[in-house]
Amino acid sequence: MSRRTIIAGNWKMNMRADTAAALAKGVSEAVGENPSVEVAVCPPSVYLHLVSDVLAGSAVGLGAQNLYPAGDGAYTGEVNAAMLSDCGCRYVILGHSERRALMGETDKQVSEKLAAALAGNLVPIVCVGETLEDREAGKTEDVVGTQLRGSLEGLDESRATGVVIAYEPVWAIGTGKTATPEQAEDVHAFIRNLLGELFTPEVASQMRIQYGGSVKPGNAEELLGQPNIDGALVGGASLKVDDFVGIIKAG
Ligand code: 13P
Repeated sequence: MSRRTIIAGNWKMNMRADTAAALAKGVSEAVGENPSVEVAVCPPSVYLHLVSDVLAGSAVGLGAQNLYPAGDGAYTGEVNAAMLSDCGCRYVILGHSERRALMGETDKQVSEKLAAALAGNLVPIVCVGETLEDREAGKTEDVVGTQLRGSLEGLDESRATGVVIAYEPVWAIGTGKTATPEQAEDVHAFIRNLLGELFTPEVASQMRIQYGGSVKPGNAEELLGQPNIDGALVGGASLKVDDFVGIIKAG
């Protein structure tokens, strides 16, 4: 089963409206009408509408960086799946390590967000990854396995192939220290194996697993060439048209 490569840019909490519009325009023009890979950009939520307008008719999809798992109601400061769809989103990043570390987001919350995303017909990108301390203690598989099981709790096998997993080792995020292709492939293979246990090997073989953490045009081809790496979730390098497009071209 061939899996379509998916390259997504996580813009995190960066830029202002004019730079968001210019970046979206630059990426969409460079990507053209028929990219060989699936491409998405995930701006800060306040710029989703603006970026959606810029991307209208383009092959570049729009994603959000988070959602709140409830319908409309008294949840001051939050945004739900229906609102994201209304803004033109097709994707939503869930459980990013920055949210886990800074906002205390738990696997249980991620699993609730996952259910809400699927109910709202969004494609969830569920992030997992170990810290340097975990890795040095030989706990990578324990930590990633626990996060994956907890975050996918309650996910029905029939919906699993519509979920994207992003393996993002925390020590490689924004540090310039990329996991070697072998290190990344080892964990991706572990994740696929675990997905096979949670669902079926057939379902697992259809699920896409992105790598994230200091992906750059110079290392993307080797990472994306690994058998179990099906795309990239890109932070810093997605903020520059040339760098992001360089990664897309490597896909
Ligand atoms: P960097 O590409 O800046 O390391 O960030 C990765 C990331 O966290 C994407 O979600």
